[in-house]
Amino acid sequence: MKKTMVLKVNSQKPDRNKIRLVAGFIRNGGLVAFPTETVYGLGADALNGAAVLRLFEAKKRPLDNPPIVHVSDAETAYRLVREVPKIAEKLMAEFWPGPLTLIFERSKIVPDVTVAGLDTVAVRMPRHNVALTLIRESGCPISAPSANLAGKPSPTTAQHVLEDLDGRIDAVLDAGPTNIGVESTVLDLTVSPPQVLRPGGTSYEALRKVLGKVELNPIVVADRTLPLERTRSPGVKHKHYAPDAEMFLVEGEVEAVVSKVGELVRFYRKKGRRVGVLATDETIDRYQADVVKSLGSRSDLASIARHLFGLLREFNADEVDVIVAEGVPAEELGLAVMNRLRKAAGYKIVKAANMENQFRNLKKRELASFSMLF
Ligand code: TXA
Ligand code: MG
Repeated sequence: MKKTMVLKVNSQKPDRNKIRLVAGFIRNGGLVAFPTETVYGLGADALNGAAVLRLFEAKKRPLDNPPIVHVSDAETAYRLVREVPKIAEKLMAEFWPGPLTLIFERSKIVPDVTVAGLDTVAVRMPRHNVALTLIRESGCPISAPSANLAGKPSPTTAQHVLEDLDGRIDAVLDAGPTNIGVESTVLDLTVSPPQVLRPGGTSYEALRKVLGKVELNPIVVADRTLPLERTRSPGVKHKHYAPDAEMFLVEGEVEAVVSKVGELVRFYRKKGRRVGVLATDETIDRYQADVVKSLGSRSDLASIARHLFGLLREFNADEVDVIVAEGVPAEELGLAVMNRLRKAAGYKIVKAANMENQFRNLKKRELASFSMLF
């Protein structure tokens, strides 16, 4: 057990002395949690294999799931990869710094443990002054998975980080809640057309505008666990985002969802279980459960994304036995939200009657191996 140092910093103009102090920890092989625009990350020197190994241990993360390497400039990204496809230059110009992680073939300078033995490396340049200053001051690329214990919801505040990792890491930089609230989009550039492996803060719609042709890996919209060989993102086979309670996700058109959620609440309360509902502003008054929380307005998917992980953690403190969550439209940031909700529910998905297809905006040809999904 070590003492975890908590340092408050301004998110726009972070105190350089505090950042220098923890950059020293990173250079010496230590572990520092820091905010990005998506979620808090847990950083280690990406070129120091022993440090990255400690990162896996602190998170209790399986060794076969590599973290993302964070850079503060495109030049460093170039050093980490074998070659930079034309399309990558375009994407970097358009979306970096920002919530887009790109998968490349890796170069020789990247240690095996940093990429879990894969031939590829995930790279992103975050859009957060604290993260960028920390990377610059450290003088090395920083491997940073989300700063939570493996399997738990990703942290959007420094308090969430401490809930999971206090005493297991050297320091956390606290710059308040993160803005986007779901992780970056992971885009595989080693296949043609490029494929989204994890939906996130950069929307599929925005990528399509720039790329023209881009596919969604089946795992993105899976509504049940897929056989491993159908997936390419190493993270997908592990438990993710899980609250302590058993969780169900109800999908469909709003009215049908409200009545199905109500039905489930009554069923479990009759059995003597303590039930929480994850609702939206438009529907929150329609439930009688032990705890009801709103993610935000259905017309503001960005706000729903921002609140998602924090509310999943709150339910742990409320000690509910069962959570029933409403689905939201799988468009723009809603695609990432639905992907996280489905995983958090362990794919226990209830389709409400009169369901309109929430994935209606995704045309068949845009999905790789789409037919197996529905
Ligand atoms: O927003 C984010 O991406 C946050 C912040 C801290 O930057 N980081 C994050 O890291 O979410 P992590 O480690 O929790 O998720 C990394 C994802 C996992 O799904 C992992 O499987 C995938 O990226 N990944 C990493 N390297 C990969 C590779 N070489 N090929 C395919 N997927 C990879
Ligand atoms: Mg994670």
